[in-house]
Amino acid sequence: METTTAQKPLPPFPKEKHWLFGSAYLLKGRSLEVIKMLSAKYGDIVSLTFPMNKVALVTNPQYAKYVLLDNNKNYRKSLAYDVLKAVLGNGLLTSEGDFWKKQRRLIQPAFHKRKLEELTGMMVEQAQHWVDKFDQHADTGKATDLAPELTALTLNVISKAIFSNGVEEKAEMVGEQISLLNQYAIDKVNDPFRLPAFIPTPFNIKERRSMKQLNDVIEDIISTRRKEESKDDLLSMLIDMRDEDTGEAMDNKQLRDEVMTIFIAGNETSSNALAWMLYLLSQNPEAEAKMVAEIDAKLDAGVELTYNNVLEFQYVRQVIDESLRIYPPAWSVGRRNYEEDEIGGYRIQKNTNVLIPIMYFHTSEKFWDEPAKFKPERFAPELRNKIDRFVYFPFGGGPRFCIGNNFALLEMQIILILFYRNFRFRLKEGFVPEAEPLITLRPKTGMWMEIERRK
Ligand code: HEM
Repeated sequence: METTTAQKPLPPFPKEKHWLFGSAYLLKGRSLEVIKMLSAKYGDIVSLTFPMNKVALVTNPQYAKYVLLDNNKNYRKSLAYDVLKAVLGNGLLTSEGDFWKKQRRLIQPAFHKRKLEELTGMMVEQAQHWVDKFDQHADTGKATDLAPELTALTLNVISKAIFSNGVEEKAEMVGEQISLLNQYAIDKVNDPFRLPAFIPTPFNIKERRSMKQLNDVIEDIISTRRKEESKDDLLSMLIDMRDEDTGEAMDNKQLRDEVMTIFIAGNETSSNALAWMLYLLSQNPEAEAKMVAEIDAKLDAGVELTYNNVLEFQYVRQVIDESLRIYPPAWSVGRRNYEEDEIGGYRIQKNTNVLIPIMYFHTSEKFWDEPAKFKPERFAPELRNKIDRFVYFPFGGGPRFCIGNNFALLEMQIILILFYRNFRFRLKEGFVPEAEPLITLRPKTGMWMEIERRK
């Protein structure tokens, strides 16, 4: 006799758990290792316990596809995104349902090819500015922490894309406050048992102060812009956008949420990705040499860094793809179901947080040959199309797929081309970077490297 979903068993509960905080707590600090162990021991779907919440961990690409794509209508963002929502409000990353759909449709044109073509010159200029900066450090034999440098660079790129010019000082302050809020959000993820926001602890007061400063500055930029002529940047695009059906524009609060979302989503991910790219290249001289040869050949032949030309640096792109495989900046995504569901023959109770650890899929021996090895050749054009979209998905999957993926790829490609045209980056002797899987996959102790001039 057929059993109904309600009669199906819950996914297996692992024996391993923290005495007070349950089994989800085991993921803290050594997520990938624990996920690999749980998947090997209990299967492709596992129930985790976490105080007052239901959690399921999925490690099968079919299940990831089911949640993110096939049955996405039954799923909203998981509990972990609530921390982000405190900062990002109802922006694209954290909004839901018809409201999200309308905003996505409105904002999508800001990331179209034509817009990216216009942004290419600015990205080249910014990357060149950092080349000039690095030139002063080069060949001194002194190591520098490149992680904050890369954050400053990607922050500048995203500031220019959103606010173009005329708000440099304010944009700098926005950047600083966003970095602080980001750190607070990370601290919260690290310590979910922190006192709630309305209790005036020193942490909560600092967070509130940052948020207020940030909101004031962004509101000021928005209201000034409303009085000025429209500019050729994302902010003006967002201000000028009108809903197709109602003709309505976004109010200041919504603009603030969207600007903040793009600011944070567009910076944190790309800067971490770049830090890991420099690291992986420093450890893989063969791939580095191959990439440098491609860069030199094209630039020596007089190829200019226009949008279409940048995309033709095929091996640079493969290096990026392979780095995003080993160190995916968004290392995990999560969803919660509105209605009871069934995955892999198990019952998924209503409101279960389904954890989809992108990094597991990217590095499991089940799906990759020698997964620990850095081999950009895996992403050669003839092989790339054969890779399952839910085995390799650094930008997520389904309708909530990253809106800024082409922006990020273009930016990272330009930065790698200009950096490696001029320099090589060598890891500081004895320094071992550590990946910290929080909201994004950060290099916990920075990325200490020496900069060597190539020519
Ligand atoms: C290497 C760089 C990046 C990576 C790895 C990355 C990854 C992701 C992932 C995995 C998601 C899906 C989250 C989920 O399903 O819950 C996402 C969403 C998003 N990303 Fe990115 N991202 C990157 C760069 C960017 C950039 C440069 C921007 C903007 C300029 C951006 C803006 C967004 C936004 C707005 C969303 C939410 C989209 C929606 O729900 O409609 N990202 N990103």
